[in-house]
Amino acid sequence: MTDYPYLVTISSEKGGVGKTTLATNLAIFLKALNENLPVSILSFDNHFTVDRMFEIKGQPLKGDVADFLRGAPGGELLHTGQYGVSYIPSSKALSDLKHSVQGPLMLARFLASAQIPGVLIIDTRPDLDILTQNALFAADRVIIPVKDMASLENCRNIFELFEKKGFDKKSLSLIPCLIDSRIKFDGPFQDQRSLLKAYAINRGYRCLDTYISKSPKVESLATNPSGRVYPILTHARNTEVYGQFTQVARTVLLLRIFRRGSQRLPGKPLLLRGAPRLDLQPRQGTSPRRPETPHVQRCHQGVFVRFQAATERQRDNG
Ligand SMILES: Nc1ncnc2c1ncn2[C@@H]1O[C@H](COP(=O)(O)OP(=O)(O)OP(=O)(O)O)[C@@H](O)[C@H]1O
Ligand SMILES: [Mg+2]
Repeated sequence: MTDYPYLVTISSEKGGVGKTTLATNLAIFLKALNENLPVSILSFDNHFTVDRMFEIKGQPLKGDVADFLRGAPGGELLHTGQYGVSYIPSSKALSDLKHSVQGPLMLARFLASAQIPGVLIIDTRPDLDILTQNALFAADRVIIPVKDMASLENCRNIFELFEKKGFDKKSLSLIPCLIDSRIKFDGPFQDQRSLLKAYAINRGYRCLDTYISKSPKVESLATNPSGRVYPILTHARNTEVYGQFTQVARTVLLLRIFRRGSQRLPGKPLLLRGAPRLDLQPRQGTSPRRPETPHVQRCHQGVFVRFQAATERQRDNG
């Protein structure tokens, strides 16, 4: 079997919606939920947050994401990182390199022979340049953070890209991010989250069942006097966001499990055939959710038990 990683791309044309926070912390929560699962991350952005979060000081670097895009084997560029997450170091050379990228399916071809196991997460820039397009078209799951109407409007361009290429839009999932629970509205949609979801569903977009709250604690993890970027898993345990990230990571693990039941054509995004309905569907009427099969229930339990064990171990270690 080809060792194509389960690729999760985090993308939005809008800046500051929480892409990098989602990408980096999702990697850490996935690892905490399943310590045997190889999890890696790379970024097409040039702010080096991934490196600041995952690098192990003093480790010699053996290449970066620019080398990967020039054709170097991805598996050989993986560096052991903090929290058990591997990463491919970021590069400042990507804007120069863009011109030599051979079409929007180049990354999918490289990944097919990259020997990157488990899950790979790609953090993208706030635009739909050729690198983002590559990350979108190679992905098994695209997660699009939306925080306001502007970011919701921007989603249209990603959906249109998929439509133009004839790719399955079911792999695109929105997630409301930076939701401020203090904002309340009159009328049927009483808060930011339900309003954004309603607008999304009205446009035919799927949303993940969960969302990410705005939290001052989480904001302080990226900008603080130490210059380090701290993870939510270890430094924001008593926040709502901790539970929300657990839920996002669980969903991704389940989606990955169900990918095995589907087929991938080389260089084509994956169609999740027969996958359970984990997303909130744009649908009419009030048809009940499909009940979980015993297999799905077992998966939930397995993931939960592993997560408990991992968090307890972390707590014990201080
Ligand atoms: N849940 C949250 N609560 C509070 N602040 C957050 C949260 N998530 C992210 N932030 C903060 O919001 C800002 C933008 O987040 P982030 O860098 O993840 O967004 P982005 O979409 O990757 O931005 P860009 O498009 O510039 O790459 C950062 O200062 C980050 O610390
Ligand atoms: Mg970012």
